[in-house]
Amino acid sequence: MTRKILVTSALPYANGAIHLGHLVEYIQTDIWVRFQKMQEHECYYICADDTHGTPIMLRAEAEGITPEALIERMHGEHLRDFQGFHIEFDNYYSTHSDETREYANDIYAKLNKAGLIEKRVIEQFYDPVKEIFLPDRFIKGECPKCHAKDQYGDACEVCGSAYSPTELINPYSALSGAKPVKKKSEHYFFKLDKCEKFLKDWTQGKKTPEPPLQPEAANKLKEWFAAGLRDWDISRDAPYFGFPIPDTDNKKFFYVWLDAPIGYMGSFKNLCQRKGIKFDDYWKKDSKTDLYHFIGKDILYFHALFWPAMLEYSGYRTPTKIFAHGFLTVNGEKMSKSRGTFITAESYLTQGLNPECLRYYYAAKLNGTMEDIDLNLEDFVARVNSDLVGKYVNIASRCASFITKQFQGKLASSGTIVPVLERVREHAPYILRFYEDRNFGFALREIMHLADEVNRFVDTAKPWELAKELAKDKDTTKQQTLHWVCTQALNAFRLLTLYLKPVLPKLALDVERFLSISPLVWSDAVTLLPAGHKINDYRHLMTRIDPKQITVLTEANKESLQAAPQAHSQQRHAQHQEKIMEATTIPNVITIDDFAKIDLRIARIVNAEHVDGADKLIKLTLDLGTEIRTVLAGIKPAYAPEQLIGRLTVAVVNLAPRKMKFGVSEGMVLAASGTEPGFYLLSPDSGALPGMKVK
Ligand code: MSP
Ligand code: ZN
Repeated sequence: MTRKILVTSALPYANGAIHLGHLVEYIQTDIWVRFQKMQEHECYYICADDTHGTPIMLRAEAEGITPEALIERMHGEHLRDFQGFHIEFDNYYSTHSDETREYANDIYAKLNKAGLIEKRVIEQFYDPVKEIFLPDRFIKGECPKCHAKDQYGDACEVCGSAYSPTELINPYSALSGAKPVKKKSEHYFFKLDKCEKFLKDWTQGKKTPEPPLQPEAANKLKEWFAAGLRDWDISRDAPYFGFPIPDTDNKKFFYVWLDAPIGYMGSFKNLCQRKGIKFDDYWKKDSKTDLYHFIGKDILYFHALFWPAMLEYSGYRTPTKIFAHGFLTVNGEKMSKSRGTFITAESYLTQGLNPECLRYYYAAKLNGTMEDIDLNLEDFVARVNSDLVGKYVNIASRCASFITKQFQGKLASSGTIVPVLERVREHAPYILRFYEDRNFGFALREIMHLADEVNRFVDTAKPWELAKELAKDKDTTKQQTLHWVCTQALNAFRLLTLYLKPVLPKLALDVERFLSISPLVWSDAVTLLPAGHKINDYRHLMTRIDPKQITVLTEANKESLQAAPQAHSQQRHAQHQEKIMEATTIPNVITIDDFAKIDLRIARIVNAEHVDGADKLIKLTLDLGTEIRTVLAGIKPAYAPEQLIGRLTVAVVNLAPRKMKFGVSEGMVLAASGTEPGFYLLSPDSGALPGMKVK
């Protein structure tokens, strides 16, 4: 029976880069979604950027751009990173959208009507210089308990105690350094306590066919109920980047966490409009479809309490299940910038590391609980090399060439099926179960056991020796044996590929091409390739990771710390309502206007010659489209003039002309250099023409 399934991952904040911690979640969800799609269920995977809130507003301000420009840039970067790791959303949208705004207004109005919104005047810290109410994390001061200096307004990182910002000794604003003043303002509260009965029943599984929470999450909720549910402050005063609360004259805004989960609906609605899917089938109260939210354990409070309560009391369906995962540690410790283990998705890919290796490693460690998972970098290299290259790919690389060379690429009839192939086939239902339960680690362990067995079969049958003997005398029985052995092994390889496909979609695609088969789906697990099926030439499927790449990766992430002080340290405290980046003033950052001052143009080097008496300089004649200029460039140690003539590069054209010993230089060409000797002149992609502006 095909199911209708809507799946989400948490919406990443639009003020930071995607890092390997985030990827635990997106990879986990993507594997599960691909698995569902391979069962031919109707399954949609939805996500978006979480774009609202004070940190985003302040970061945009620090960069000298509008919040809209910032979130648009981040959207592009996030999508690029996700695609790089083969995370395939059906829609990756933004909470800053009409769809999300409409549902936010709708839900708010219904909650209001249900008597669940209360207005109350509260007193909060206010920065008189920045003229802004300060979220707890933007207030610093001395810890009231242990007297450590410069602690945040909500908790002390030295002694671990939690308090309210008003308890801080000598508080100051982290934005301006000013002493905050107390100021009154009316806030809107969601009366969570009135939802207690419903929430207790819902979280303990009394409202749904199956319990919506993992046992350890349900226990956590019992603790929260015991501590008492408090009203939830859902409004923020202007200036705020978010959705204005209706009828407040743009003075009050929805707190980011109100519209963030509604962003799931907004993103889905946007997909529905494009694809003609019926939104109500998935969100109306008695919906028969499934709704699954994958989240990190730090945002359980929002997803298991606020969110179901909001949905229930505004007349929508509640989630089928919430799957919370643990946090990533690297080499057994919290990700750290000084150790270079706060690794961005981008830098991983830039090092040329294969994204599927990380997918495989995470999958091998994931088990459907809220336990933290560790990325041990040494183990990562060893495991991926041994399992994927040494075991799985090895099967194909050992057998394929005989089929190509001796049998015109055609497979034999399976004939007697070797027991190991039968075992591989029989394992399908178990592996399927493990995937369904998000027990990816178990699934992969089974698959690798099977790969081991297949390799043992090949070891024993020794096709390479059969081939050698055949070269001496053409014995038909031996020929048939060779054909049969390789056919059995490749059939096993095909099934193992099917089992690995949710984790390794790109590799599976390469294998499908190599085996010349249509995209593998779960129902293919019962079939074998027919006699005479023609495969393509085997091409190398995967390269081992070189441990040196890992060293380079951690080094690169150490450096990026100095280069990018704005990268925030993602301090997380489970109960915090706002998760805010640490630094909002960014010393090394320039505004777009600063950047725009540099006039960069594509230049064609029409002539290049030695400069008499200068051992570093080459005299370049540059065609800038509308004019010709002479530039003296210090690149002689790296280039011979004749190598340069005709090529395109990038030049700074608004530098003041500089008089040098050997003549006047009317600009500068751009070259890269590092700590090693050498210069590397920049070149544009083909299509660029002299005079084009670089920006
Ligand atoms: N914007 C909120 C979520 C709103 S959902 C309606 C948020 N964003 S986040 O960028 O901080 O995190 C996005 C997801 O990534 C969260 O589920 C979070 O738990 C997860 N992770 C972020 N860092 C992580 C690790 N270091 N390890 C594992 N998961 C991590 O929270
Ligand atoms: Zn303290």
